[in-house]
Formats: sequence, C-alpha cells, structure tokens
Amino acid sequence: MTYKERSDCGQLSLPNVDNTVRLRGWVDAFRDHGDVLFIHLRDRSGIVQVVFNPEFLSSDVYNRAVSLRNECCVAVTGRVVKRAEDTENSNIETGEIEVIASDITILNESLTLPFPISEKAMVMGAAVASAGSVGEDIRLKYRYLDLRRPTMQDHLMKRDQIMRCVRDYLHESRFVEVETPILTKSTPEGARDYLVPSRVNQQHFYALPQSPQLFKQLLMVGGLERYFQIARCFRDEDLRPNRQPEFSQLDLEASFIDDEFIYELMEELIVRIFTIGDITLKKPFPRMTWQEAMDTMGTDRPDISFGLRFIEATDIFESTNYGIFRQILKQGGCIRGINIKGQSAKLSKNVLQNEYAKQIVPSFGAKGMTWMRVVKGNLESNIVQFFSQDEQNRIKERFQAEDGDVIIMIADQLHRNVNDVLGLLRLHIANSLNLIPLNEYAPIWITDFPLFEATGNGITSNHHPFTAPHRTDFNPDDGEELLSLRSRAYDLVINGEELGGGSIRINERHTQEKIFQALRLSEEDVEEKFGFFLHALEYGAPPHGGIALGMDRVISMVLGTSSIREVIAFPKNRNAYCPLTNAPSPVVYKQLAELGLLDMRGGRWAQGKKVM
Ligand code: AMO
Repeated sequence: MTYKERSDCGQLSLPNVDNTVRLRGWVDAFRDHGDVLFIHLRDRSGIVQVVFNPEFLSSDVYNRAVSLRNECCVAVTGRVVKRAEDTENSNIETGEIEVIASDITILNESLTLPFPISEKAMVMGAAVASAGSVGEDIRLKYRYLDLRRPTMQDHLMKRDQIMRCVRDYLHESRFVEVETPILTKSTPEGARDYLVPSRVNQQHFYALPQSPQLFKQLLMVGGLERYFQIARCFRDEDLRPNRQPEFSQLDLEASFIDDEFIYELMEELIVRIFTIGDITLKKPFPRMTWQEAMDTMGTDRPDISFGLRFIEATDIFESTNYGIFRQILKQGGCIRGINIKGQSAKLSKNVLQNEYAKQIVPSFGAKGMTWMRVVKGNLESNIVQFFSQDEQNRIKERFQAEDGDVIIMIADQLHRNVNDVLGLLRLHIANSLNLIPLNEYAPIWITDFPLFEATGNGITSNHHPFTAPHRTDFNPDDGEELLSLRSRAYDLVINGEELGGGSIRINERHTQEKIFQALRLSEEDVEEKFGFFLHALEYGAPPHGGIALGMDRVISMVLGTSSIREVIAFPKNRNAYCPLTNAPSPVVYKQLAELGLLDMRGGRWAQGKKVM
C-alpha cells in the first residue's frame, strides 16, 4: 500500500459502503463477541469499528486479530458495510457503518497502558473509564500516550486552527512575521530571568526572553512598521493554573498608530478566534479605566459577566452617630458596599453574621462587615438601630434596595483595603451563590493604569518601563507625582482573566531616561542594560505601540479547559518540572567546567559582581 491509498478512519460513512479500504491506526478498544471480534480502530481523524469474522478469514489473520491489545499499531484492509439496524453507535462519527476486515498486520505491539486512552464506548450508552481522573504527573510522564486521547488531539488541532487564524488575519492586515532571538539579554517584565551560560564568553550569560519587547521596538526603529510573532517567552515565577515557565505570546507592534488601532485590530482578531470555539462575541468591546475597575470591582482584571458592583456610601455617613463608621471616616477612610439582589433567602442572619462577618471577611483582610437585609421595605440587621432614619433612607435609595436584597458594606481607613476586600467578597459571593452565568464571555479593555506602583522601598513600573505616560513633563525625583501618573497601557480581560496587555511606547530618549531615573536605575546600570536601546531611539524612532496576547490562556478559554497545561503539548507541571524528560536535571562536572561555572563557586567574582 502507498500512503496515497490509505483512508481516514473517521471519514468513512454510508457513501463508502462496498468500498475496500486500507486503514492505519491504533486499537482504541476491542470486544470479543463469541467468535466474532470487534475493534475500534482510531487514527487522527476519528474511530471506525472493524469486524473480524472467523468464517470469512484465514486462521492466520484471525489469530493475529485475537492477539491484539489496546494501542497496538495496526494496518487493516476491509470492506465498508452498513451496520445492521439497532447496532449503530452514535458515540462515534462513523457509527452507521463498520469495516469487515479481510486482513490485518500488526505494525507494532504496545505494552500495558499506564492509564486508559479510549474515550468512546463500543456500545451505545455504555460508560468509558476516562483518563480525566488520572494524576497529572502520570499523564505528563506518558504525554505521548495522553496525546492520543481524542480530547487532547482536539485541543492541539484547535490550537493549530487558532494559530493559523492569527497568522492569516495579521498577514491580511499587512503585518510581517519576524523571529527575534531566544539567546538574548534580560527584558524586564517583572519575573526572574532564566539564564544560559556562554561557553565562548566564559562567566557571561544570556537571558531567555521574558518577552520580545525590546526587539519588537527595535523592529519599529528598523522600519518594519507592522511586526508580529508567535513568540515563546520564559519567566521564572511562581506557577498557577494559568501560568507556565515557558508560554506562547502573540506579540505584535506597529508604527504610526494609536491605541484605537490596537483596539480595532485585536477586537476583530479575538472575535475570529472565539468563533473557532463556537463563541460569539460582540464588537466593540467595552472599556473601563483602571480607577473605575478598582472602585467598582476591586481589581484590574474584573469579571463583568455579572453585577455586584461596589456602591459608594461614604457620604451617607458623613455625620453618623455609629461609632465604628465615625472613627474610620475621621481617619480619612471610606465605606463602600454591594447590593446582593434577591438573595436574602440564601443569606440568613446566621450566615451573614457567623460565616461572612466573622470568618470570610476577616480571612480577606478586613476587620468586619456590615450587613442589612431588606424586609417589607425596611433594613434589618444587628446594627441598623445605630443608623438614623435619614441614613437608612439614603442607603435604601443609593443601593436601590428592594425586598429580598442583602446589602453588605466594608469600611476601612485605607481605601485600597476596602476595594481589595470587597473585590474578593464579590467573587466569593458570585461563586457560592452561582451568580456567574455559564458559557458567557464578557471582554473588556482596562485603560489608564497608573504608570508606577509603590513597592516596599520605592516604585516599579506597573507594566514595563517602555510604556508611554500620559504626560512627559513629570519630575522623575518627585515620588508623589510619579505615583499620580497614568500610562497609555491597556489590558484585555475576559471573564476576569488577563488575556493580553500592551501600550503605546516611549519613542524618544529623553523621556525613556526620565523613566529609568524615576525607577532609580543608576546611569551605569542603564547604560549596561539598555544603552543599545536608548541609542536606537536617537535615530528617528517612529511613534509606535503594540500588545501581546497570552495564546495559551486564549486557547484554554476558547476550549473551556481547566488549565493552560491542557492546551500545551508538553507543559511543565506545577513545580516547573517535566515528568517526561525529568528536566531540569543535574549536569555533569565536565559540562560545568566547560562553561566556566566551576570557577564561580566559593565567592569568586563574575563580571565585577559578587556571585555567592
Ligand atoms: P505581559 O507581561 O502582560 O506583556 O504578557 C502578555 C500576556 O502574556 C500572558 N502571560 C502568560 N501566560 C502564561 N504563562 C505565563 N507565565 C504568562 N505571563 C504572561 C498573559 C499576558 O496578558 N511585552 C509585553 C506586551 C506589550 O507591552 O506589548 C508583555 O509581555 O496573558
């Protein structure tokens, strides 16, 4: 048989009846029915049932069939027939037909499997033991088997389809795909670098890119005008279900554009990508400033698929007699709340007081929570008697209170605490009361981020230091002014997950230097780390901006998987370890010596810096 004569298992259907077909694939499952033997033969396209009837087969062929085990790799020749009535199997796409085998060759045997691969029952309605319950490390150790499962095949094929959609769309939009180096210099994105020692330049290190940020900006200086790349990025940071040490970004950058260009470009792309998962999104996506997101949902990656927005209540209590509120307001604090509409049946006094106020809210970092239930037009709670009638009326009006509602309030001296705690509470309430609509996707752009944020001992860039500020006339030595600056950055968030982020960039040296000065980088450090980049900005660097989409997160959301590891062929586990290859692993002494790393032990100096 030549490969051209091969038929795809999953493509066979009634029009193929009476055709002789040559199939190649793996034994997904088998069933012995007296003398007659049935197998599910699986290839990438799907599954077809093959029947071995000893009446029509030589004993050689039949005996080979009898010796089959799950996941043997086989070649089968046979004739397609329509299945007898009542033996159809709608579990598989080819369930109306089957193949009556005339020959079988075992191309390769398989050992006993570490976990089941088959996902399709041979008999309609029968249950199948799935790999879903198998420990992830076992799945990753035998990833090549895990990948044979139809679910994983589908994930990787959809991933391919999405990547193709991205490439087609960006080429249509006149973007050029360019590869940037993997062995490079540190690009600050807020994580630790993975370092690669150089043998040729002993005791010098490359850093793997946290993103292609500097190179994509240099491509703009280089006149490419519209660049994209599906770039592998490397970040040494604590892992979560939506984080991997290496991950794929759709990275892009364009010159002579503004943020509207990016919104329009990305919205159309996201709509097209989600269509691949049969998800319809409406354009344009809403936008919200960072401040509004923080003040109404307590987070810069809000899930707007449900309500429970914060309501400002500070002014209601300006001259309150309620001691706790009075004290907090005297210290410059604030009071905000949420109306949990129509949920009082599920939130009894006991739950509100003993679970929420005493346990949940303190675990989120607040001292307490004020709650009120709306009953027959009145507010009811353990503290409502401390509020004046006017305050009660204003609460009802402000929160648009109706019977059956529950109003909760958090008061704190620190405004940020109020937002943080209410933000966590909002998610907790939505999850525990099932208020998050299933299968709804709510994209939003978050804009106007603070340019810097305070750290314990100074400030750091909220995104990265190449993000343009809204104004450039700031004093880099004035800490307070720096913290008040807003940036021209934007994040794309869907259902509370940050899928992408980018900004309009600084394109002239003076402002870029001021940012480094604000970040307290010494001139020497700036020259060493970014000298080449600053220099490039001096040769007519065009105005430019861009964005990066976390493709693993996007694909995971489109396919509805629980973690991005489900859409990556060979991911690391939660400990940044690969159970398949056992990477990272120790290396031999000789290798370290060749790289000049042995000399660095014992407190010797490398590159002018103490290393131990
Ligand atoms: P940022 O750091 O926001 O921006 O990254 C862009 C997107 O990449 C995804 N992402 C990750 N995905 C999986 N695992 C990780 N460890 C991980 N870290 C980030 C997220 C994120 O939104 N250079 C800038 C982009 C720019 O300014 O153009 C950058 O990398 O979905």
